[in-house]
Amino acid sequence: MAQLEGKVAVVTGAAQGIGRAIADGLAAEGARIVVADLRGAEEAATAYADGVGLTVDVSDEAQVARLVDETLARCGGLDVLVNNAGLYASLQMRSFTEIPLREWQQVMDVNVASMFLTCRAAVPAMRERGGGAIVNISSGTPFRGVPFLLHYVTSKGAIVAFTRALAKELGRDGIRVNCVAPGFTMSDGVKEHPEVIEQLRDVSVAARTIQRDQEPEDVVGAVAYLAGPAASFVTGQTIVIDGGQYFH
Ligand code: NAI
Repeated sequence: MAQLEGKVAVVTGAAQGIGRAIADGLAAEGARIVVADLRGAEEAATAYADGVGLTVDVSDEAQVARLVDETLARCGGLDVLVNNAGLYASLQMRSFTEIPLREWQQVMDVNVASMFLTCRAAVPAMRERGGGAIVNISSGTPFRGVPFLLHYVTSKGAIVAFTRALAKELGRDGIRVNCVAPGFTMSDGVKEHPEVIEQLRDVSVAARTIQRDQEPEDVVGAVAYLAGPAASFVTGQTIVIDGGQYFH
């Protein structure tokens, strides 16, 4: 049985990569999908029945407010929010001493402040529905303390803390907040950067218990579970999905 029938799910960064796979998975469970992305949102949304595509920069307060307003106007409510949009593969791996402050701040804005903005805008609508589910995409990097990407790893660690504290705030509203932390994944964004694949693919596979590439589809089951009724008593949690590279 479809677990998300009648639910409206906003997935950020769903025009490609992990976000797109998540949107496919939630649609298969019956959810109506809102693709929120900087580019390609409308085209991506055509893959879904009654799909809605909205061009939005999730780090911009006014654009996020418009995302929620349009979702409510076109779909009549909002039940599931997947905060997936983020900067990763385009970031240059280098010593923290060489990271410009501007780049640090941009990573914090896109990867962390965006979640604050989307949750702050979406929660009143979820309260209207009597509950909801938020799933935030972190990364395995803060658990492993991966070097040479200090801004990124810090941002992804913040998402775990954000998830826990917000879950506590929203428990009484019936809104669950959870987190999924993928390992190195062969997403579209990663495939656009062969140098990243060269640096990380083989070492990541070798470090795993299940020694193969991680694909965007590998995280879908966990996100669908956390978004749906089977996880009705699960909140504040982080599930690491990396083929057993790190045991959380
Ligand atoms: P990707 O680069 O393939 O896709 C990211 C999507 O987010 C793109 O469609 C992009 O347009 C959108 N986006 C970026 N900034 C945005 C903004 N300000 N507003 C709206 N949309 C924006 O990325 P990928 O690899 O699929 O990553 C998705 C998420 O998963 C990110 O949060 C990333 O940090 C996380 N992650 C990725 C891993 C990997 O190895 N690929 C591993 C662990 C976590």
